[in-house]
Amino acid sequence: MYAEEIKVVILGNSGVGKSSIMMRFVKDEFSATQPTTMGAAFMSKIIKTTDNQFKFQIWDTAGQEKYKSLAPLYYREARIGIVVYDITSLASFGVLKTWITELQKQGPENLILAIVGNKSDLQDKQEVPYEDAMNFAKQVDALFELTSAKENRGITDLFMKLANKIELQ
Ligand code: GTP
Ligand code: MG
Repeated sequence: MYAEEIKVVILGNSGVGKSSIMMRFVKDEFSATQPTTMGAAFMSKIIKTTDNQFKFQIWDTAGQEKYKSLAPLYYREARIGIVVYDITSLASFGVLKTWITELQKQGPENLILAIVGNKSDLQDKQEVPYEDAMNFAKQVDALFELTSAKENRGITDLFMKLANKIELQ
């Protein structure tokens, strides 16, 4: 079956788990010592829905400040933008908001947005209230998902919802 190629960019502060989410989705692997990304990393995976299949081409960007200026190279042509925060870090949620603003101003038109709260396994250390994140996602018309790359929660669901959203576009 023909698989349409869909460009995906993952953005967010360093350490929120962008690479871990991609590794879990593509390889079903998790590393507690995942190295920080330099520049960007790429992986692809085919996802099947009831009626279609899509080849997700995923650009995992580097969250460290020194790489910030590279981001437009990756989001410019993207169909989907996944912006990740860490539920245990209020600062990372602040950074997420600045990414959303940048994407709204400079990102491609009709970009499908997803806001992802990762590390949901660390609920006892949660700093970002669930309602705040969900309400913000509603305001900016983004999908919202809580995930744990470590415990493999929410990740298949996230990508399946994105595939379904593409089918409606
Ligand atoms: P940069 O590449 O620096 O931008 O960071 P990143 O967003 O890619 O984060 P990365 O995937 O490297 O994860 C950072 C750390 O968080 C690593 O030690 C991971 O093992 C850990 N981590 C990632 N996801 C989870 C999760 O769901 N739960 C827990 N407990 N730890 C996680
Ligand atoms: Mg990384």
